[in-house]
Order: sequence, then C-alpha cells, then structure tokens
Amino acid sequence: LNKAVFSTTLLKWQHQHGRNDLPWQQRNPYLVWVSEIMLQQTQVKTVLDYYPRFTARFPDVHTLAQAHSDDVTALWAGLGYYSRARNLHHAAKQVVQDFNGQFPSERESLQQLKGVGRSTAAAISAFAFHQRETILDGNVKRVLCRIFAQFGNPQDKAFENQLWTLAESLIPQHPQDMPAYTQGLMDLGATVCTRSKPKCTQCPMQKGCEAYAKNLTDVLPQRKTP
Ligand code: ADE
Ligand code: SF4
Repeated sequence: LNKAVFSTTLLKWQHQHGRNDLPWQQRNPYLVWVSEIMLQQTQVKTVLDYYPRFTARFPDVHTLAQAHSDDVTALWAGLGYYSRARNLHHAAKQVVQDFNGQFPSERESLQQLKGVGRSTAAAISAFAFHQRETILDGNVKRVLCRIFAQFGNPQDKAFENQLWTLAESLIPQHPQDMPAYTQGLMDLGATVCTRSKPKCTQCPMQKGCEAYAKNLTDVLPQRKTP
C-alpha cells in the first residue's frame, strides 16, 4: 500500500466513521495526558465513567500536583492498575517542578514524565500540539503487520524498531491532520482490524491490505515464538 494513500484513506475514514465526541478530544495537554493514562489499560466505555469526575476534581496540573495522594487514589478507584494513579500524581509534580507547570510539546520531553512511554508521549504530542509524531500501541502494531505484511515477533526489540520506522514513514504531511490521524489509527485497530475476526469487508484499507490479499489475517501479527 502506498504510504500517502494510507494517511489520506485513514483520515477520510476517521472523519466519516471514527469517534469524534470523546471528552478528551481537546487541545489541552493535561486533559489529553490524563485520558491517555486511563486508556492505557482500561476500555473507553469504562474511562468515560471515571474521567469526568477525575477532571472535575483535578481540573489542571497544579491542582493534581498539590492534591493529597489519598484523594488521587480515591478518584481512581475502579480503574485498577493503581500504579498508574501514583505515577500520574508524581508526573504532575514533575510538570510543575521541571517544566514550570507547562506541558512540553516535544515527544522526547514528555517521555521524561513518569508513566509516559514513547507511544503515550506521541499521542499527547499529536493530539494537544499537532506534532508529527506517531503512536505505536498493540492495536497499531497489529494493523501495520497486516496491511504491510510484516512478519516478526512483536515482542522482539529489533522487529519493534522496524515497526516504529514504518509507523513514522506513514505520518501525514500536515500537522493539523495529526489529531484525526492518530484517533483514526486507534479507532481502526479497536473497531475494524480487531485481533480475531477483523471486519475486512468494512475496512477502508482492504484494497491495499497485503494480509487480506494473501489470506494472512489469521497469521499476522505472528504469535510469540517460544
Ligand atoms: N486508547 C488510547 N488512547 C485512546 C484515545 N485517545 N481514544 C480512544 N481510545 C484510546
Ligand atoms: Fe485489517 Fe482486514 Fe482491514 Fe487488512 S483489510 S487492515 S486485515 S481489517
């Protein structure tokens, strides 16, 4: 599949079929960051139940940084993986102390925050600052392995680096397209190119998808080799 076709196709599909009414779809790096941490291990449906309460109680990074840790934990209750709440609180203090209360726009700087890895940093950078950075979470790895027939063990570091390079080569040219493009990547993997029984007949990438053409959707991404 041609790389320019990938981003234009994804953008068109996202505008027509993607999610555009999520409460964290704003150019506020604090609100984007909170949502991305919650969404790391929790489904959108569940996050929608907790996110409004959390952000009402902690509307900005200063409020969160100054909060008592028990209050942060209490508002997190139900989301699970409590280390995320501790890291969130720690990172809020980092933003206040190390970045003067302003979230940095650069992906590399965002990665200094506790609990923020490369993909989460890229998501914040793309959604809030329109930076041309790519996400690469489990869903995106699966989508890329299928469309571009990438064989390899996604747990393997060298193969993962190869996927990062591929993902970077697909980033759209125009910075203003970054939020919709990033959301489209997330939405395609979450709703169409699912792990089992991908909905290829409803997929905007079907015509260019190598896994579909070669009947490899059950084979890719390859499973962990022992
Ligand atoms: N999963 C991780 N980030 C997400 C987002 N911004 N929207 C929907 N699902 C997500
Ligand atoms: Fe995934 Fe099927 Fe779409 Fe290919 S055609 S990207 S396998 S849903």
